[in-house]
This record gives sequence, structure tokens and C-alpha cells, in this order.
Amino acid sequence: MKTLTIIKPDDWHLHLREGQILEAVLPATVNSFRRAIVMPNLIPPVTDVEMAMSYRRDILNACPGDCDFEALMTLYLTDHTSPADVQAAAGNPYVHAFKLYPAGATTNSASGVTSLPDLMPTLEAMAEYQVPLLVHGEVTHADVDVFDREAVFIDHVLSPLLEALPGLKVVFEHLTSRQGVEFVLDAGDNVAATLTAHHLLLNRNAMFNKGIRPHHYCLPVLKRETHRQALVAAAISGNRKFFLGTDSAPHDRASKESGCGCAGMYSAPVALELYAQIFEDNDALDKLEAFASLNGPRFYGLKANSEQITLKKENWQVPSLIQAGTEEIVPLCAGEILHWRRA
Ligand code: DOR
Ligand code: ZN
Repeated sequence: MKTLTIIKPDDWHLHLREGQILEAVLPATVNSFRRAIVMPNLIPPVTDVEMAMSYRRDILNACPGDCDFEALMTLYLTDHTSPADVQAAAGNPYVHAFKLYPAGATTNSASGVTSLPDLMPTLEAMAEYQVPLLVHGEVTHADVDVFDREAVFIDHVLSPLLEALPGLKVVFEHLTSRQGVEFVLDAGDNVAATLTAHHLLLNRNAMFNKGIRPHHYCLPVLKRETHRQALVAAAISGNRKFFLGTDSAPHDRASKESGCGCAGMYSAPVALELYAQIFEDNDALDKLEAFASLNGPRFYGLKANSEQITLKKENWQVPSLIQAGTEEIVPLCAGEILHWRRA
């Protein structure tokens, strides 16, 4: 049987939520990933070190039995985040980054940033302390086409920001476009990007396959095939700037299957298996370990994990539903047969 053993991966972009959803989704992540960068877009958002420490305790308490999992915490950047907040984050061993949500860009982003230029002293402190800024790279103006929001963000927000602060560490999260790949490649070593399994696997047709498919709706939205191909090329290139970040984002089924369904795909139970499939399909299984387990820690200044995990080539069926207390979550690839699984 074909098997693949690699250093245990980390997930550099993850939504764990709280309460019964947190308890239901954590085991799948712990199974495949040793650490994860945990997104702070709760209600209310995680805006300071104290809130992050309380959320971290909740996550560790929800960890199954003998769980060896590290939650790498992030803080939600608001119009009120100060240089002192950055200093406090830099001095805390459990907080690893700030997350920029442009106000209104996505789920729970109402407290996000309305004007980045007004935050310059805070961003300067991030550059000084080398605290990474994790970017949801989309503009939110109603007159910008939803499929162009990432490209416009690069021109109008990210390029000027990096011109003003060339030393700022930036992770361009969940890259979705050819323009995004080109931008990251052209930028300095202080700029990297995460790639999700779903943006590597699917193009925008998946949202409209014989009807509207709310479980394939996420933000930034899936793009056309040429963009997907650019993302795959980046992932399998071996370039250290690109690493694994699932953006696994569970929502209860009713909120997805709705007249105004919310954005996010719950991919944690299938993500590592899908990455393996995508790398295999592109004759690049030998590059998976760097992408999944080495490039991320290197960028964040952390050691690679010492544990290993093995994946084997064996068919299995993804559950069609995952129960989360009183709620149900539909995972990515629900009911489908996948060809890689954990040994
Ligand atoms: O699809 C998404 N879901 N994109 C995001 O940026 C946020 C996430 C969520 O929190 O549900
Ligand atoms: Zn996210």
C-alpha cells in the first residue's frame, strides 16, 4: 500500500469558534495538525492579550484526552488597537500575530479596520517588534466586483502599506488569485501567504454546479480556473513563502443553507487528505512536507514539529454531517470518497 510519512503539519489559518462548535471541531484539527494559528473573529472579537489568554484556556479545556496541540493565538486589529497593544502582544509567548479584517469584509468583521492609514503608529510598532500582520486581503467597496476584491486590495492597500513599512511581516491569508501569487513572489522575504485546500481544489463553477451550492461559498470567493492553477503552481513550487492554512470555518447548517448564507467551508476533517491528493495529482508529493510542515514555522520563527504522521492511500467516505451539540455542520466534500487518509 502506498503511504506517505511527513513531519506533523501545522495549520497556519484556522477558525475554531467557541462552545459546542469548538468542542465538535477541535478533534479533527488535533488529528492532523500539531499547532494552529487561531483566528480571533469571535463575538466579541479577541482584541487584547487577556482575551486571547482566556480563549486559549477554553481551547485547551476542549482538547480531547491526551491531546498534544498548541493554539497559537492572534489578536483582532481594530481602529483602536494601539502601539502599547502591539508591545503587549510582542511580550506574550502565546500571541503570534494580529489579524486585519477590513471592516465588513467577512464573518464577524464589523469591528474591523475602517482606515489603515489612520493606524500607522500601530503598524509601525508591528514592524518594530516583528509581529506579523495577517491580512484578509479584500476591499469592501460596494462598487468593486466581488471577484476583483483581492486584486484591488493589492493595488490600493497592500502595496502602499509595504512601501511605507518595507520591514513589516505580512501573511497574505487564503490567497485566491494569480495577482496575489505574483504579488507575494515579487515581495521581500517578509511577505508570505497561506493557501487553503478548497481554493487549490475548486474553481468558482463549484458554487453553481446544477444549482447554488452554499457549502462552496467562502470569502475571498472561489475564482476562475486560471487563478486556481496559479495557486496550485505556487503551492507545489517548493517556494518557502507559501504554506498550509486551511481557513477551516465551521458554520451551523442552517446559517449556510439560508436566503443569505454565510461564508466559510468546514474543511478540517478532510484538509490534509485533500492537500495530499492535490500534490499527488500534480506529481509533487515530495513537496508536501515543506508546504505543510516546514515553511510556516520558518516564517513565524518557530521550530518544526518533531512528531511525524503517516497518510495512506485508502478510500474512505467523508461523513455527510457532523453533530455539534444541538447544531449540525456540513463538512467540505460531505459524502464524497477521498483517496488519502490518516494511517
Ligand atoms: O469564508 C470565510 N469564513 N472567510 C473568512 O474570512 C471568515 C470565515 C469565517 O469566519 O467564517
Ligand atoms: Zn479565515
